[in-house]
Amino acid sequence: MSRLVVVSNRVAPIKAGKAAAGGLAVGVYDALRQSGGIWFGWNGDISADPPINSEQVGNITYVTLGLTKRDYDQYYRGFSNATLWPIFHYRIDLARYDRDEYEGYRRVNQMLAQKLKPLLKPDDIIWIHDYHLIPFAEECRRLGIRNRIGFFLHIPFPPPEILTVIPPHNELLKTLCYYDLIGFQTETDRLAFQDYMTREVRGVIEADGSLTAYGQNFRSGVYPIGVVPNEIQQLGETYKGRRHPMRRTSDTARKTIISVDRLDYSKGLVERFKAYEAFLDRFPEHRRNVEFFQIAPTSRSDVRTYQSIRRQLESEAGHINGRLSDLDWTPLHYLNKSHERRILMGLFRSASIGFVTPLRDGMNLVAKEYVAAQNPEDPGVLVLSRFAGAARELTSALIVNPYDCIGMAEALDRALRMPLAERRDRYEHMMRAIRAADLSAWRDNFLRDLRAFVSQPRE
Ligand code: G6P
Repeated sequence: MSRLVVVSNRVAPIKAGKAAAGGLAVGVYDALRQSGGIWFGWNGDISADPPINSEQVGNITYVTLGLTKRDYDQYYRGFSNATLWPIFHYRIDLARYDRDEYEGYRRVNQMLAQKLKPLLKPDDIIWIHDYHLIPFAEECRRLGIRNRIGFFLHIPFPPPEILTVIPPHNELLKTLCYYDLIGFQTETDRLAFQDYMTREVRGVIEADGSLTAYGQNFRSGVYPIGVVPNEIQQLGETYKGRRHPMRRTSDTARKTIISVDRLDYSKGLVERFKAYEAFLDRFPEHRRNVEFFQIAPTSRSDVRTYQSIRRQLESEAGHINGRLSDLDWTPLHYLNKSHERRILMGLFRSASIGFVTPLRDGMNLVAKEYVAAQNPEDPGVLVLSRFAGAARELTSALIVNPYDCIGMAEALDRALRMPLAERRDRYEHMMRAIRAADLSAWRDNFLRDLRAFVSQPRE
């Protein structure tokens, strides 16, 4: 079997045991851990003359390098996170465009492809991840690399009307066509992509379902990323920290609501805080009987839009606690500190509600993790935004619209009152979906399709 070479912008966080890494790092790490291979990308450091470092841990070889300050500013902080991220999350209002940053983005993709080339064997399968690396395959082809190359987009793909706000959208999307296979989280994302390819650039859908555009023939597919349910269940069961802050025992009536997100404007945190306040106002009988834990490790804190969402949250949290707290009750616990995975899974298991309400999200693995961590005998309830990719599969969650403050407040009330039999039914239904599309299925289906696809000969 050919070797797997994974490339993503960020490599280090999971290896370092950090939990604030986001779905990509969790998924890629678990996928690679089973199959072994190379994981190539940025080590998270800024350095003047970035050396390449290679380190073998178990069956994974981590090959990482730093970025220069200029590359970091233009490629990572600039075009990736101040242009692509907001636009792909439907937030034109938060996006900006700078031509130098776009050129920096192209330059770093070229540099990374050049550094990867000497590590490759002819039959390696190359799997590129996420929006930082859209032009990577084109750079590889230019360098004469003929291996199979697949791309998976972890975040949503926006409708063409939104995507075309990016001035060089045409050039950017053209580079995507150099992949053999392009994977999306949901059918909505794949259709938006197909829509762009057929309407904007007059690409053609072939009889075998493949696409031809810009003179390239390639395939696209839907591969929802999943979790490893048994492992999460075990972690949830075994974490019984002595000072577990929210153990749900028969003698403590106080229930907990939990949310875990990177501190990002796409996660709907301000709307969530407001909905929690509305819930305490509309259903005062729950006051003192419930506590909300929002864990939100800071992320991309040198991007302006992230600084402003952080200020809003601090103000909102202060407002709620100032207005409603009592000497022996704090309604909202807002923590920027990141926590180890095993602790999070323990917290999930003991929380009565998983409150996952992004304004837009590719998948949101926290939703799946919360469900997988539950005690099957007495499971909690997932309150989930319809705008998370996970809502396509977890249809037995209480689905909410994060723009509807009162609707979310009512869902919290309903979740807290839900009878055990209904909680179990919903849990079992969701677990079936989680098992059917687990992490191995994501990896195996994608790699199977990448291996199988016979494209028209390139030149
Ligand atoms: C999301 C993205 C990933 C990214 C992660 C953490 O999950 O899809 O590509 O790595 O967030 O963000 P960061 O900017 O810290 O890498």
